[in-house]
Amino acid sequence: MSARIVVTGKIPSAGLNALHDAGLSPITWDHEHQITRAELLEFVKGAEVLITLLTEKVDDELLDAAGSQLKGVCNVAVGYNNIDVAACTRRNVRVTNTPGVLTDATADIAFGLVLMVTRRLGEGERVIRSNQPWQWGMNFMLGVGIQNRQLGIIGMGAIGVATARRAKAFGMSIAYFSRSPIDKKIAEELNATQLSLDDLLASSDVVSVHCPSNDATHHLIGAAQFKMMKQTAFLINTARGPIVNEQQLVDALDAGEIAGAGLDVFEFEPKVNAGLLTRENVVLIPHLGSATQETRAAMATLAASNAIAISNSQKPPTPVN
Ligand code: GLV
Repeated sequence: MSARIVVTGKIPSAGLNALHDAGLSPITWDHEHQITRAELLEFVKGAEVLITLLTEKVDDELLDAAGSQLKGVCNVAVGYNNIDVAACTRRNVRVTNTPGVLTDATADIAFGLVLMVTRRLGEGERVIRSNQPWQWGMNFMLGVGIQNRQLGIIGMGAIGVATARRAKAFGMSIAYFSRSPIDKKIAEELNATQLSLDDLLASSDVVSVHCPSNDATHHLIGAAQFKMMKQTAFLINTARGPIVNEQQLVDALDAGEIAGAGLDVFEFEPKVNAGLLTRENVVLIPHLGSATQETRAAMATLAASNAIAISNSQKPPTPVN
């Protein structure tokens, strides 16, 4: 009997086909509604490998519900803050993610937010869509140019580097804060300056968050950090919501401590702090970083390769633990 591979939400057919080609018969949650927690706890029973989405919390309760035959949890996302990796490791459950395949898609969205918020594109759209009278004018809806301004990257992994490359092509200078050293060649290519977090916050015109979300980075950006930023600076977050204290971001915007924000992720997703919704100097998009057809197919295929390797008791291509 083939291994029980349980897929907790709809994934692109490329991933399912890869599983079928490997002789596996995945069981997929294919109801219209997103699986509820109670349904999830029931659905994962007896699974040998779980293929999970970032909306599913994998914790002790879920691992207990799955059972002791569980060998792997393959997240269809590069971020895996939805998974209690230590709990998985304690049970010899392998965890995998999908790095690499969503780098460009996410960097595109990060840089798109930079352009949107600095040039007031969302606000401009709202002017037209709300039928407000408008006329070209020398002083009409002026934004700020990004050329010769500094982009400060927090977390210089693959997505941080890809975002920096885009910014450099637009004439920005690059500074970064990263706990792990980056390739010397990349630092040279980008002419990038490594700074402490405080120095990066104090000197950057745009700050873009690209680090993983974990205990060490929870609320890494909050009231104290907004006070360090320039009043003319913008914050971009395409990483994970909990890295930024969302209420303190609203407070900082209210106090004029920073000039605006572009957000693809939210602290209590899918809820968005009401204080953000009415602000013109904030761009809000619904977690679209990896949302292209090609990228989602590649993510599903990589997650399937991880699941196939685990079910064959081989080392998966992109393990986390
Ligand atoms: C998307 O947010 C991801 O982590 O892949």
